Amino acid sequence: MPIRPITSLKLAGKRVLVRCDFNVPIHDGRIADPTRIEATLETIRYVLKEGGSAVMCSHLGRPKERTPEFSLKPVAERLSAELGIKVPLAPDCIGDVTGRMVSALKPGEALLLENLRFHAEEEANNRDFAHELARGKDVYVNDAFGAAHRAHASTAGVAQFFSERAAGFLMMREIEALSSVVNDPPRPAVAILGGAKVSDKIGVIRHLLPKLDRFLIGGAMAYTFLKARGTPVGRSRVEEDKLGLANELLEAAKKQGVDFVLPVDHVVAEALDKPETATVVSEIPAGMMGLDIGPRTADDFIARLAGAKTVVWNGPLGVFENEAFAKGTLKVGEALAGLSGVKSVIGGGDTAAAVAHQPWSRGFTHISTGGGATLEYLEGRELPGVKALDY
Ligand code: 3PG
Repeated sequence: MPIRPITSLKLAGKRVLVRCDFNVPIHDGRIADPTRIEATLETIRYVLKEGGSAVMCSHLGRPKERTPEFSLKPVAERLSAELGIKVPLAPDCIGDVTGRMVSALKPGEALLLENLRFHAEEEANNRDFAHELARGKDVYVNDAFGAAHRAHASTAGVAQFFSERAAGFLMMREIEALSSVVNDPPRPAVAILGGAKVSDKIGVIRHLLPKLDRFLIGGAMAYTFLKARGTPVGRSRVEEDKLGLANELLEAAKKQGVDFVLPVDHVVAEALDKPETATVVSEIPAGMMGLDIGPRTADDFIARLAGAKTVVWNGPLGVFENEAFAKGTLKVGEALAGLSGVKSVIGGGDTAAAVAHQPWSRGFTHISTGGGATLEYLEGRELPGVKALDY
């Protein structure tokens, strides 16, 4: 395997630059969802236990300039609490002061560098910046799967300055789970796809059509397929410029003998902000818009999951943020989580947000921490952050 796991490195006495994806939602200085921090603790604990010191770095948000709202301070506090040691926040990710803090680290100690994106050179994958980021560290570990689709200095350029580099435990888990879907998945293999736009999922459908047996389509993207097929969709959200493409994909599925399943009933309302008008219909009336799959569709999807050996799910089946339109996503999610003998891989981003906090979500084999990275992996694209770890 061209990528080495962290366990292949000797870490004792080494200063380990660990690229993490601590891009977590922060509201009023409080971390709203710590999942990504928790997911990378195994790697950090391993570095410390092996006698290394951890120099963690991450981006947070998309800052235009250095402002306190994009500081990683709340993350440093959270890490201190989780690891049970003081994790100071360096004032910057490069520079003399930070360099001195890095040199002063002893085995078993940790430091978090300030937001990488306070420097435009990070996203530009600037060579000098990457070199500076590497300075004073002995080995490089990338655990930031969520940022692996970015060819940035900390995810791509920096790797060339280390003779020893490896993937952290989270990165390894993500690659293993997603590659088992993309490369020769145990059959029958099913994709559940939802979300707002067909255009976001074209690459995934094209790449997975020859590999999977069945596609269950929900979310607003289903209305584009339904309209392409000539089914009335009322005022539902439709990508008019993608109708031709939707037809092509339906044709391709048919030719390849893939079961491409669209909703047979819908939760509709007059508008998204009028949940009190929600009702279930088989055919969407002219003045209404579809906002969730209906109960018959949910039952149909669940029936078609029976016996599956692999299921990959990307995109919610309705506007789950609103309770009135969340039932389809939750019903199918709970049923999938309860199936045995199936490898269930749940895409990150909205899909994870919709189901990850449900008590039954432990029943999934893997919930990805990636959003764009997961989607690109499922499209069969090479991720620069993974490629950079190659030897
Ligand atoms: C994500 O949240 O998907 C990753 O952290 C990448 O963030 P970005 O889209 O701002 O590069």
